[in-house]
Amino acid sequence: MSNTSFLPLGDEKTRFVQGMFDDIANRYDLLNSFISLGLDTYWRRRTLDMLLGTLEKMDVVLDLACGTGDFMKTLSAKNIKTVGVDLSLAMMQNAKLDTGNLIQARGELLPIKDESISAVVSGFALRNFTEPELVLREVFRILIPGGRIALLDVGQPGSALISFANNIWFKHAVPLIGKILSDKNAYDYLPRSVAYLPSKQDFQQLAAKVGFSQITHREISGGLVQVFLASKSRTKNYPKARVAINVEKEQTQ
Ligand SMILES: C[S@@+](CC[C@H](N)C(=O)[O-])C[C@H]1O[C@@H](n2cnc3c(N)ncnc32)[C@H](O)[C@@H]1O
Repeated sequence: MSNTSFLPLGDEKTRFVQGMFDDIANRYDLLNSFISLGLDTYWRRRTLDMLLGTLEKMDVVLDLACGTGDFMKTLSAKNIKTVGVDLSLAMMQNAKLDTGNLIQARGELLPIKDESISAVVSGFALRNFTEPELVLREVFRILIPGGRIALLDVGQPGSALISFANNIWFKHAVPLIGKILSDKNAYDYLPRSVAYLPSKQDFQQLAAKVGFSQITHREISGGLVQVFLASKSRTKNYPKARVAINVEKEQTQ
């Protein structure tokens, strides 16, 4: 993969993303801290504060696309039960967890019962999902009424200066660091994958279409990262067509 505009779609994207994370799994944590200058821990903590702050009922929290389980570790330290789902087995094999169940699955087809999860958190995965709408439908299905989601991902800083510095770092330094310490192709792809991220407005529309309400958007660290938040209403007046869509999708693969 040397094509600098390579942005796969459909099954090709799923295979590519899975292979890429399998390849970089054993150095993922090291590179992640390095690339974010250690801020990733702070960003995850802030995301969890946003997610958990207003939640009334707290049984199990799903870390969707959990990777090496960073959100799960923080949740467990708060005595909150967690389950992690990820496409990449190697990423989960590199998780250093004392508690919590890990399941290898696609976010687009979650092997989790309807209305069994209090909240869903996801870090740096939205742009990696092959079909974000199907993922949101699945997340909506498994959430209890009143459940919430928080999806953390990279952002676009508003300040011209921060944006300039971020671009240099993300588009030039990160691929170089990745080449030296891990896998060149994966870290070349990382800045390009931002093109998959929905805008605030697109996310708002998509989440509303799926049935979510209270859809909001927050920025952290001057917009270096962003969090998409939404709730599943307690009133149950939401669309019901999601299961049929998933079944049909599975049959066509
Ligand atoms: C950048 S890593 C983030 C890992 C972790 N959430 C974190 O905050 O460090 C993205 C993760 O998303 C997973 N992923 C990508 N597409 C997925 C999908 N369709 N379903 C489940 N996991 C997926 C990858 O395997 C990878 O572990």
